[in-house]
Amino acid sequence: MRNAASFLNALGVTRCTSHLNSKDKKEIKSLGYDLDQIIENEGSTSENLHNALFVTERIAKKILCGDVERVLGTLEKLSESIPLLEKESGVVADLGGGVGLASIWSARQYPQWYFHVIDHATAPLILGEKWAKQLNIPNIKFHRRTFEEIIQTKNQFECDLVLLDYVLIPGTDDQDTDPLTKEMQPALVASATLLKDEAHCLIRFGHFNDLGMAALIQAAWNAGLQIVIDNSCVENRGTSIWFKKTTCDQGDAYAEAMKLLDKFELDNDQ
Ligand SMILES: C[S@@+](CC[C@H](N)C(=O)[O-])C[C@H]1O[C@@H](n2cnc3c(N)ncnc32)[C@H](O)[C@@H]1O
Repeated sequence: MRNAASFLNALGVTRCTSHLNSKDKKEIKSLGYDLDQIIENEGSTSENLHNALFVTERIAKKILCGDVERVLGTLEKLSESIPLLEKESGVVADLGGGVGLASIWSARQYPQWYFHVIDHATAPLILGEKWAKQLNIPNIKFHRRTFEEIIQTKNQFECDLVLLDYVLIPGTDDQDTDPLTKEMQPALVASATLLKDEAHCLIRFGHFNDLGMAALIQAAWNAGLQIVIDNSCVENRGTSIWFKKTTCDQGDAYAEAMKLLDKFELDNDQ
């Protein structure tokens, strides 16, 4: 398929601005999920919420269609990133990958690479598996696991790259970075668990602030992931930060976060 947008089009994921309406919410409720209650009681990262949002293919497409620009940014970023690793073949884990569109797209482009899409919600994984089968893509597998389960079962996949795409939100209104660092820790420890030594993790997100960034770098630091400032960038379609798994002494996480923010400011001024 020629480009990322036509790949999404072929799956019925096209640009639109419509949101879930009351009829959609009723349908979701009839299938066992009360969206408002889930959001209030379980929060935006919960397994139930992501099962509810992907409960039927029609609802899932509505969610994805409202997010096409962001999804396109990730598709393009992941397939640009694989050549940067300068390896002919390897293994990628798309952690908190949901339906795994970026992995499905990259698996087609890089048949020598193998992709594992991992999430705690089964509904997006089932849809992603269906789409990968429809497109005859053999080098991808979908797994139901929580971050905590990955940490407990140690390194099963020996990954060359872990993608954490819009799983973390490094922004906080607190004056203290500790709660956010703690919240982000399981995803980062799980990423480090999946990686080979010296392999890379690409983290993408939309909004961030200075304290959120400091919390992210600290959580990564605690997990044994060292920031790679040169490759990290802020772009219209999302911010990408690269980390490398290391056993070396890494110095001061807060100072590294400030260096990164200085680079982002310099890049934006140019
Ligand atoms: C905002 S979605 C992003 C999905 C996908 N990476 C993308 O960019 O479209 C965050 C995903 O992280 C998953 N997630 C959140 N917490 C998790 C956990 N503790 N273990 C496994 N997956 C988790 C959610 O189920 C959801 O699919």
